[in-house]
Amino acid sequence: MNSPDEAPKLRIGRRDIFTAVGAAAVGGVAGWALRGTGSEPVAADPAPSQAPSAAPAGGVPGITLPAVPQRHARLTVLAVDGPAAAVIDAARRIAAVDPAQPADAGEVSVTIGFAPHIARELWPERATAEALPRFASDADDIVEGGELAIQVCAETAPGARGASARILGEISSRIAWQADGYRDAPTPEGTARTNIGFIDGIIKPRSAEELAAGVFTAQGDTYAVFRRIRIAQSFLDASVAGQEGAIGRSRETGAPLSGGSTMDEIDLFAKTDASRTLIPAAAHARRAHPANIGRPLMLRRSYSIDATPGAGPSSPPS
Ligand code: HEM
Repeated sequence: MNSPDEAPKLRIGRRDIFTAVGAAAVGGVAGWALRGTGSEPVAADPAPSQAPSAAPAGGVPGITLPAVPQRHARLTVLAVDGPAAAVIDAARRIAAVDPAQPADAGEVSVTIGFAPHIARELWPERATAEALPRFASDADDIVEGGELAIQVCAETAPGARGASARILGEISSRIAWQADGYRDAPTPEGTARTNIGFIDGIIKPRSAEELAAGVFTAQGDTYAVFRRIRIAQSFLDASVAGQEGAIGRSRETGAPLSGGSTMDEIDLFAKTDASRTLIPAAAHARRAHPANIGRPLMLRRSYSIDATPGAGPSSPPS
């Protein structure tokens, strides 16, 4: 959590809510699904001659599929020594692993991302993501870098961990960082209430057009950004109304403060009779809105992560 001297704020804005404590930008994501029963990979052998492919229309497991993200995830970022060929070799070994888990693990998806510097070297003719710049609210000891990201998702925690363990058992590379995430039981619409108490996953690209505009390049590639984010104590301490103003939606139902019900789009222009905007200027859903940033809608796959009790202070010293 943020230190108390950062906490008192007149208004809670996005910068105040979030502090990233670990991040990796990963370009060129290849995904394939291996069901709990351990069927064959259905997509993308990540060979250098073949850029990781993603199919905007059908979706790619671990990226757009399953439509309702699995309830558990283990993300591992590996530091792979050696040339880019060593990274491809590691990716191939991962692809060969059968991560079969008990049936209750549901659809187990394994998604691999190559760091921008590796993707550029392997596929110079393709557009690749850039490493993320430093953000003002990044923690000083933020973990960056790594060559290969492995996202394993499953419906059970043992499923995600077991499949990851099998994969990592084949790879001798150092783990740069790892995070276990979970999502609450989904609603029929596929949204879930996160640990900040708000419903998340309401607005996201769903149609083929939206996915083509904001998620996949014309070549069918996609880019992933992983951010480990701390919620500021000032947000947690705020009143319900204060938190709702910071997000722009009702905490109870997820309905936009501009009116309507849970699944409705926010109306950024809606005003009270006294001409005040119903969605505060600094509300997260306003700041992140495509109309505000001038970019198509991004795909989010959010998981809650717990600090590890007993492993030292859960908040930085103030
Ligand atoms: C722990 C960190 C975060 C939390 C708890 C959070 C929470 C939320 C919530 C509750 C909503 C409204 C419901 C919804 O539309 O699903 C939302 C919307 C959204 N968030 Fe976040 N968010 C976080 C970080 C981020 C970050 C880092 C980004 C982008 C870099 C982002 C992008 C978006 C977008 C694009 C929307 C949809 C806005 C719209 O068009 O209505 N969020 N977020």
